[in-house]
Amino acid sequence: MHELIAVLDYGSQYAQLIARRVRECGVYCEILPHDITAEELSSRQPKAVILSGGPASVLKKGHPGMDPEILRLDVPVLGICYGMQLMAQLIGGDLERGRSGEYGPATIEIDDAGSLFAGLEGRINVWMSHGDQVLALPDGFSVLARTGVCPIAAMGDLDRKLFGVQFHPEVVHTPRGKEIIKNFLFTIAGCSGDWSMSGFIEESISEIRDRVGSARVICGLSGGVDSAVVAALINRAIGEQMTAIFVDNGLLRAGEVEEIRRIFTEEYALNLDVVDARDAFLDDLKGITDPEQKRKKIGNTFINVFYGEARRLGGADFLAQGTLYPDIIESRSAKGGPSATIKSHHNVGGLPKDLKFKLIEPLKELFKDEVRILGRELGLPESLVNRQPFPGPGLGVRILGEVNAQNVAILQEADKRVQEEIQKFDGYKDIWQSFAVLLPVKSVGVMGDERTYANVIAIRAVSSLDGMTADWVKVPYEVLARISTRIINEVKGVNRVVYDISSKPPSTIEWE
Ligand code: XMP
Repeated sequence: MHELIAVLDYGSQYAQLIARRVRECGVYCEILPHDITAEELSSRQPKAVILSGGPASVLKKGHPGMDPEILRLDVPVLGICYGMQLMAQLIGGDLERGRSGEYGPATIEIDDAGSLFAGLEGRINVWMSHGDQVLALPDGFSVLARTGVCPIAAMGDLDRKLFGVQFHPEVVHTPRGKEIIKNFLFTIAGCSGDWSMSGFIEESISEIRDRVGSARVICGLSGGVDSAVVAALINRAIGEQMTAIFVDNGLLRAGEVEEIRRIFTEEYALNLDVVDARDAFLDDLKGITDPEQKRKKIGNTFINVFYGEARRLGGADFLAQGTLYPDIIESRSAKGGPSATIKSHHNVGGLPKDLKFKLIEPLKELFKDEVRILGRELGLPESLVNRQPFPGPGLGVRILGEVNAQNVAILQEADKRVQEEIQKFDGYKDIWQSFAVLLPVKSVGVMGDERTYANVIAIRAVSSLDGMTADWVKVPYEVLARISTRIINEVKGVNRVVYDISSKPPSTIEWE
């Protein structure tokens, strides 16, 4: 069993970042609901607990709390922002309501360069984002750092190993934050750092072998990195007992089927089955324009194809898929209730209740960047490991309105030109996703003195760390101009190209 750091989630958008930073230090970390009991928590034997930040105020009724016994478990605790305030409130500190909050960069003066701030002296830059703050220390605590506005920017009780920081050590805008996290993990909590990808591979392989026995596994390959890594991992565990199924649903990018076949036969050999199901998908999508209905239809058709293939292979007990940790935690909210369904990502929420397969989801504890590291360790080619994510429902959610063969062909041709041109741009490696979307409107144009009334293509390019938030990329005008000229001149049926300048939130990355 690994050393575990438990992050209690108070709804901060940074809770995942805390977990990532801890794992980057080689210590396994999980995000747990804030209302977990001390008994449940101690049964997991965490080496330490981190209380995340959160949007609530401890000075308002009904704020999310914690079992106070957790602070008496003799396990080190680090409260971050809201977490610090909550800890202070529970053990007798005094708080004040945001008279003069701090938002953004700040400089802290370190009072005690031991324990949490070992190796850091004088002043360091940090990222603050708080209204409330701790006004008077709980008994046993001392001030570890201060700012002009916040006289208790960090506090600690060295005997009880309870610490609080008002700033966010987990964000990149606190440049030395990782050193603070390392001090907490290694010096204060005594972790040794026993979490690594090679260890993860060995453990997963033996778990998969134990669970599967001599049964057959099918693994849906989507062409993206997650499912490829799952397939490579299971292939290493059970070899020929797994069949990777790549479904040509007619909603793939131009040249995708050939590329996947090439990669998985020439660069990384797998037991691969390419199924041509184009007609089934297009038939099922006839007349459907509602995005959620489309997603559900596509998800169901995938499952039916998998059932068909399982029968053809003489039966399969397991279906493997590339669910990641953010997919799982996105479906829990800080208050413990279900979060709103934004989209039915079909590998998490869209599976039928009576699914005839048992699921294998070996990546369900990993973040995307960890999946990429794992892919490299498993020997997958760089061209695959660095691929942009591609949604399971494919071009189906990039054709707004009805999906039919003609629309798919227009979008594939437009998208191909986006890829060819955008890859020449220096900043391409920093783009998370770039693609074309076919809009359900027509516009008037003029080509060679003739009036046209044709389709509009939108171009989307975003940067992101994990797909949960995203910013539109400031692609140079020359690149956009080349994309537009090529699409309008070369793709029949398109007479206008627009660029999407919206971020997530409030927009999403895909248009449907
Ligand atoms: P949104 O559009 O929700 O997308 O901002 C976030 C990320 O998820 C991808 N995406 C999907 N991936 N199945 C997937 O495997 C899906 O149904 C799905 N829908 C969206 C999207 O491309 C982006 O990277």
